Amino acid sequence: MTITRVEKLIYGVENMDLGTRYYRDWGLEEVESGPDHAVFRTRVGQTIELRPAGDSTLPATPDPAGSTLRTAVWGVQDADGLKTMVDAVSADREVREEDGTFLFADESGNGLGLTVAQPVETDVSLMPINVNTIEPRMNDVIDPKAQANPIRIGHVVYAIEMADREKAVGFYLDRLGFRLSDSTKTGGDFMRCGGGHDHHNLFLISRADRNAFDHASFEVENFDMVMMGGKFMKEAGWEPDTAPGRHILGSNYYWYFRNPCGGNTEYFADMDRMDDNWEPRFWEESPGFSIWSLDDASMA
Ligand SMILES: [Fe+2]
Repeated sequence: MTITRVEKLIYGVENMDLGTRYYRDWGLEEVESGPDHAVFRTRVGQTIELRPAGDSTLPATPDPAGSTLRTAVWGVQDADGLKTMVDAVSADREVREEDGTFLFADESGNGLGLTVAQPVETDVSLMPINVNTIEPRMNDVIDPKAQANPIRIGHVVYAIEMADREKAVGFYLDRLGFRLSDSTKTGGDFMRCGGGHDHHNLFLISRADRNAFDHASFEVENFDMVMMGGKFMKEAGWEPDTAPGRHILGSNYYWYFRNPCGGNTEYFADMDRMDDNWEPRFWEESPGFSIWSLDDASMA
């Protein structure tokens, strides 16, 4: 009974054309596009679905913003595990089924789903790096126009009301089998799927006043691809939300962009990996956002 990954993200989008263009530039495989429905896919077979914000089949959202994430579907390892988890969730909330996906809401009113994960094999390999007499990149030059081709969705992030924090986090830990990696008193809780090793697949940011979707994050091969992907997005006219940098909690390289489908998207690479030997850390004060950031000359 283990969640292994994000399986699908469903957005309600005010401007379908703009949203479709954004995800096309983000570098995902475009499966389908049109005024009422667009579908993109990561290299490991996760899907991103865009529907018009007014689509009556979309679940309610706690966020009044026009375009936002309406459902995050999590992939469970197998059908038996899915049944066990759905039965447990059904005990205290309404669950409805749609094509093998079981839909409900978390404690903050965010749309959630559970389905059997359907991972696709992909040919990810480490990009060769030349050092001194180690020359794996012989007669092979760097493509100056490379665009990112995200491997997978690594995590989703919501802001939740501080007063509801314990209940909101407890639901994911106790009912859906997530594990805590880091928790900061003023910042929030970083959790990983029971069947995954990423430092976080879910981050609930504690905010004083509101519940809202914050961002979805996509893994690329390395720091170069974070930068190349971001450069491509900037040149296509999309607005960065941050400078590129390297986080403290999770250690991943990052670069965030403002997504017309709602919230931000992030390119990330080289995140910390944790297993059950990791002891969650509790921070009285947040250790900060980044180890370094390209707009931060102090490298604090
Ligand atoms: Fe992130």
